[in-house]
Amino acid sequence: MSSKAFDFEQRAQLTELMDEPCSYAELRDCLRDLISVNRTVFTYRPTLEWLEQFAGPDREPLHIVDVGSGAGDMLRRIEKWARDRRIAVRLTGIDRNPYAARAAREFGGNDCAIEWVTCDAYAYRPSAKIDIVISSLFTHHLADAEIVNFLQWMELVTTRGWFVNDLRRGRVPYYAFTLLANTMRWHKFVRHDGPVSVRRSFSTEDWRRYLSAAGLDAIGADVYTRRPGRLCVSRVKR
Ligand SMILES: C[S@@+](CC[C@H](N)C(=O)[O-])C[C@H]1O[C@@H](n2cnc3c(N)ncnc32)[C@H](O)[C@@H]1O
Repeated sequence: MSSKAFDFEQRAQLTELMDEPCSYAELRDCLRDLISVNRTVFTYRPTLEWLEQFAGPDREPLHIVDVGSGAGDMLRRIEKWARDRRIAVRLTGIDRNPYAARAAREFGGNDCAIEWVTCDAYAYRPSAKIDIVISSLFTHHLADAEIVNFLQWMELVTTRGWFVNDLRRGRVPYYAFTLLANTMRWHKFVRHDGPVSVRRSFSTEDWRRYLSAAGLDAIGADVYTRRPGRLCVSRVKR
């Protein structure tokens, strides 16, 4: 299909190859290249910068849950961030695809203390309080109504706040990622799913509408862009 036909005004109703049935080796190779994507396009930076405000001297470990944790690289970066600042953390990654937890364990090695849970975001029942929920490249996998539920769920289960790190829908990020992915010869799932993810993702107005539908327009959540191609939503409970 010619990209001239693409409508960037609306979220595209498309599916991604990584959500289709495939072998473990196929998904692991895709997730390995997604780590490379995340490093190349500075995915970790907005989340780590947002977390900096929680770098206080709390005695209780800060429990951070990453929803749709994939290969687990965001939590491994946070583990290093916390170690460098001597912050006690408990880190949990949840992902509905059982291959994600398996790959996260394989990539993290035996010393990794991060807990990997296989379940749907909504089915997660933590044994203790959650301080912070984060996600990265996760919310664009959800339908609009599910995003409203996800916002309400994060607001309900967290004591300190939540942070959504996802993509900004638009022609420039779409073409830029297509070119980058082909140049880097990333996995075929990444080359297909990356541009599709941009088309499934968001505008600032979308997030304002979801917050309003969730009854959360008065909580002071921030919606802001970060280069390259990011749209983040943050909520801090004071
Ligand atoms: C594009 S990947 C992002 C992985 C990782 N966060 C990253 O930034 O590389 C999206 C992940 O969300 C997971 N996922 C999608 N829907 C989910 C749901 N309802 N509950 C839990 N995980 C889900 C998928 O299995 C996939 O691993």
